[in-house]
Amino acid sequence: MNTLLHETLQGKKTKRPPFWFMRQAGRYLPEYRELRKKAGGFLEMCYNPEWAAEVTIQPIRRFNMDAAIVFSDILVVPHAMGQKVWFEQGEGPRLDVLTDKNSIEALTSNIEERLNTIGDTLRITRKNLPNETSLIGFCGAPWTVACYMVEGKTKRDYEEARNFAIREKDSFDLLIDKLVEASYRYLCLQIEAGADVVQIFDSWAGVVSEREYMLYVAEPTKKLVQKLKVKYPKIPIIGFPRGIGTKLAHYEAYTGVDATGIDTQTSFMWATKNMKRTIQGNLDPLVLAEDKNILLQEVKNILAWGKDKPFIFNLGHGIVKTTPIEHVELVCDLIRQH
Ligand code: CP3
Repeated sequence: MNTLLHETLQGKKTKRPPFWFMRQAGRYLPEYRELRKKAGGFLEMCYNPEWAAEVTIQPIRRFNMDAAIVFSDILVVPHAMGQKVWFEQGEGPRLDVLTDKNSIEALTSNIEERLNTIGDTLRITRKNLPNETSLIGFCGAPWTVACYMVEGKTKRDYEEARNFAIREKDSFDLLIDKLVEASYRYLCLQIEAGADVVQIFDSWAGVVSEREYMLYVAEPTKKLVQKLKVKYPKIPIIGFPRGIGTKLAHYEAYTGVDATGIDTQTSFMWATKNMKRTIQGNLDPLVLAEDKNILLQEVKNILAWGKDKPFIFNLGHGIVKTTPIEHVELVCDLIRQH
């Protein structure tokens, strides 16, 4: 593969930065909403390779980003491990919570059979993508997925998950080990099916203490990255540990990721000066949704700050559903003209 995204991930400076947007397939697109209605449930859509491939390609057709990200979810992994997972309309994910060692011992890391349909999604997508477009596979990081598995839904601080990790340390450590293995196998499956880059989403990396950061964010991510690098040394890995602030420099060095996603709250200028490898980010998704003038200024700032650094233009978190299509077009044009 020699796409613009790959060159940037190898640390090369390209004529313009490659770009894609986290959650680029989704509800801000009318064609997504239409197919979503037909599909019924969200998980039904994830597990139907024809529909999921169509939704993966929709933003590429409209905006021609430099990468497509496979349409799936981080919570298909706990689902494949044997936990009950569903999505409440308008509310988000729900899981039957893990309560003790027995419920964790019962989980399997043997996820291939259940998730092979997502391999099919990638195979169909790859066939229908332009050659110059990268295909990104992904998983949630062990810590973030464990948060959902212990608490059962989106929370603000995941205090119960943190309590569980202290109170039942052995059980929680076992859960993290199982998640490293399941995530590894899930990413291998996606790479075998055509993913040429992978991203690890650690959306809740920012709620932990320093001690927990080492134990549950840095260490398991490092293990996952090392295992992948043994099998697929040429597949670049992007880490996105949201909310860890200046620990980003440690994360990059310690885990061995090829690139690090910078979140909305972190200064991109700081990142260009303090990060050694490729960075990705960090336009505020709310600015993208709300205000054209602020948007123009912010895009210009990011492009200017990143001018001497290999970087991937992206958002600082997922695109929101109220985002006008016209604003996304504007950002794409600005980057292309750069
Ligand atoms: O980026 C893409 O376009 C690829 C698809 C993708 C989805 N989820 C589809 C989705 C990716 C990469 C994810 C990752 C994901 N899922 C994360 C990590 C990134 C982040 O946002 O922090 C997390 C924490 C989840 C778990 C999850 N899935 C939540 C909390 C929700 C509900 C929030 C919401 O926006 O409704 C989902 C549902 C979800 N995943 C939707 C999409 C398009 C919306 C579902 C719908 O159509 O009703």
